[in-house]
Amino acid sequence: MKDKAVPDEIQEILATTKQIDQVLDKMARRISADYSGRDLLLIGILKGAFIFLADLARRLTIPHSVDFMSLSSYGATATASGEVRIIMDLRTFIRDKHVIIVEDIVDTGYTLQYLQHLLEARRPASLRSCVLLSKPDRRLVNVKIDYLGFEIPDQWVVGYGLDYADRFRTLPYIAALRPQVYAGG
Ligand code: PRP
Repeated sequence: MKDKAVPDEIQEILATTKQIDQVLDKMARRISADYSGRDLLLIGILKGAFIFLADLARRLTIPHSVDFMSLSSYGATATASGEVRIIMDLRTFIRDKHVIIVEDIVDTGYTLQYLQHLLEARRPASLRSCVLLSKPDRRLVNVKIDYLGFEIPDQWVVGYGLDYADRFRTLPYIAALRPQVYAGG
């Protein structure tokens, strides 16, 4: 249901604030149980994961630390080529730590695949992934997602950290953009 606060560019709300809260409560409970007594490090992938990570981390009932990486694809067609580069690396050494990668969305899978290879090489005690949104129809490489929020169709989604041209990241829900917005019509 739309109300006045929803921007015109939004076609449909896919997950309300309440639905996101419920999914995060469940994820946080699972992670807190799975990592009890371990040295847990959450790695948020900027920019998209900043809100998800903040809300998830504050729900955890176990001690943990937080770090960030920033990644970028090479050029406009880069996701298709699968090339990813590091814009900002971790401050933390992850060797022997229990690490969870926190991502807002997995689309082709190239970014998460790159990260998993990169971080495995640094010899953490364990490495898992926690992803808010997955678009299975878009997948080009197989990646393992250990904690998943929602599976969504192949639509451009914004809100709760996700953007279109750096807009809409702070909407409190996840929504599909009208196709004419990103098709330039
Ligand atoms: C998004 C998202 C993932 C990546 C997923 O980042 O945060 O990192 O794309 O796509 P893939 O599965 O096809 O690799 P984006 O490049 O939009 O940057 P942002 O998080 O800074 O918005």
